[in-house]
Amino acid sequence: MRKEAISFVYEVFDDTSSLAGVDKNLLQKAKLATQTSYAPYSEFCVGAAALLSNGAIISGSNQENASSPAGLCAERVVLAAAAATHHNIPIETIAISYDNKRTSTSNRPVAPCGICRQSLLETQTKQQTPIRLILSGMEGKVLMIDDIRHLLPFSFTAEDMK
Ligand code: THU
Repeated sequence: MRKEAISFVYEVFDDTSSLAGVDKNLLQKAKLATQTSYAPYSEFCVGAAALLSNGAIISGSNQENASSPAGLCAERVVLAAAAATHHNIPIETIAISYDNKRTSTSNRPVAPCGICRQSLLETQTKQQTPIRLILSGMEGKVLMIDDIRHLLPFSFTAEDMK
């Protein structure tokens, strides 16, 4: 028997002021996209914005449903929108933020749910280049993760079915 460990390095910015211009702009687009959220049940409006390798920026937001499993997270909306409108153009970075209507502020960066991590990983595997994530709360610190694989260790992929 031996023990093994997994760790990864990510960047923490105290606030948006120290972000590179391109990242600040993308995060701004994600925050703007919260306004297109349909979240009457959770009142947790999530916005995501993807920067593609051709410079295009695609936005998405969570779309809930009275039948909750039919709802979609902002991340999967933006992945589907990017794939459908910019076929085979790789995604370089996705910024994600939220507007929690039940609180006036929150500095806790959003954490993509498990299903979205799986979907993000599928897209990254398909395009064969890493997807960077910029995660933020309504204010405060911003996290930057340079590869979605860090968020889903021991993931199930096509390799497992060979
Ligand atoms: N949600 C997202 O859209 N993305 C996340 O990363 C976390 C959760 C949505 C799903 C649901 O509409 C609401 O937030 C509350 O869970």
